[in-house]
Amino acid sequence: MVEHVTENHGVGGSIPPLGTISDLTTPALVLDRSRLEANASRMRAKVQSLGVMLRPHVKTSKSIDVLHVLAGVDAGPITVSTLAEARYFFAHGVTDILYAVGVAAVKLPEIAELIRSGCKLRVILDTVEAAKAVRAFVEAEQVPIEVLIEIDSDGHRAGVAPNDLLLIEIGRSLGPSLVGVMTHAGASYDCRTTAEFEAMAEQERSLTVQAAERLRTAGHPCPIVSVGSTPTVHYSCGFDGVTEVRAGVYAFGDLVQSELGTCTTDDIAIGVLASVIGHNRQHDRVLIDAGFLALSRDRGTAALPIDWGYGAVCDPVSSEIIQDLTVSSTNQEHGIVTARSGEIDFDRFPVGSRVKILPNHACATAAAYDRYFVTEGGEQIVAVWDRVNGW
Ligand SMILES: Cc1ncc(COP(=O)(O)O)c(C=O)c1O
Repeated sequence: MVEHVTENHGVGGSIPPLGTISDLTTPALVLDRSRLEANASRMRAKVQSLGVMLRPHVKTSKSIDVLHVLAGVDAGPITVSTLAEARYFFAHGVTDILYAVGVAAVKLPEIAELIRSGCKLRVILDTVEAAKAVRAFVEAEQVPIEVLIEIDSDGHRAGVAPNDLLLIEIGRSLGPSLVGVMTHAGASYDCRTTAEFEAMAEQERSLTVQAAERLRTAGHPCPIVSVGSTPTVHYSCGFDGVTEVRAGVYAFGDLVQSELGTCTTDDIAIGVLASVIGHNRQHDRVLIDAGFLALSRDRGTAALPIDWGYGAVCDPVSSEIIQDLTVSSTNQEHGIVTARSGEIDFDRFPVGSRVKILPNHACATAAAYDRYFVTEGGEQIVAVWDRVNGW
């Protein structure tokens, strides 16, 4: 059994070997560092070619070691989705943090504490109520909280429409706390063709730039224009007027991303190692010890051309997908593997053997784990990296 270590144990040096994935108890989250590095450099090349700054969203990995691969050792600006991530990354030396979930007033004291400790932590909001709460807090506590107004660029989730009068009212309510606008075009996940993705990326960009211009015209300085999702950044043809882009899931890739064309299944960097725990020959099922708590309930590929059930079944070492198989259903701790063709070759999966399951949605699957067992694509574990969960 591999001991829990929270720091990076590189190969070589005087640190004893960490064993192999055969030593791991299951389920366990395995991260292929070579794939992560390749995904990271592809994204860096893309944003460099378009001349815009990348603010990776770390909600996918929630790991300082992963961030170092994404952004280099002096990790630059990041996006977070929880204050637990903000605290963790700040404790690891990251100071430029955008907390990109509409801020609840109850969190302002904790946000102020981070800011007073030297963290440049910015927040987002899209209501007058929240803007007034932040302004009142800033004035009462004399703490400078900087705010981006969330823009609705796709009708998908949150934000103010760029042409809504509300935008200016929120700007007015914020006063000097206003520093920019941001959006996340989650509707990019509904695009299917390159033309649709490119049009969505352009819509995300142009509507957010338009919102910034309206605020400026109304006399409110708006230096930051922040946009992004993995699909819109991947398919974007230009970021005129944008100061930074945010993408997160590109770091690991997943089955959804492979179907959206932002990566291939050979780029997917994480998988859940599971043990075969039973053979149900009557119903042609192999049972594994990874159910919905280990794989997540995410069924993101259900509406995509290839429905991978709860995940794609792979060889545990080569990560080669066994195309005929999926985890077709799950209970809490059981995964049920079936064959699309109907018949399973039980001899290929003896009880006690291992499989690796590639996730539909990397962020959701990784959320069940507190560490990554890192490999270079083979059996050897070269490091154990921690991650932060909770809120
Ligand atoms: C506000 C915000 N920004 C950026 C992202 C990153 O997008 P993706 O997961 O497509 O990389 C997300 C993801 O949910 C998000 O909510």
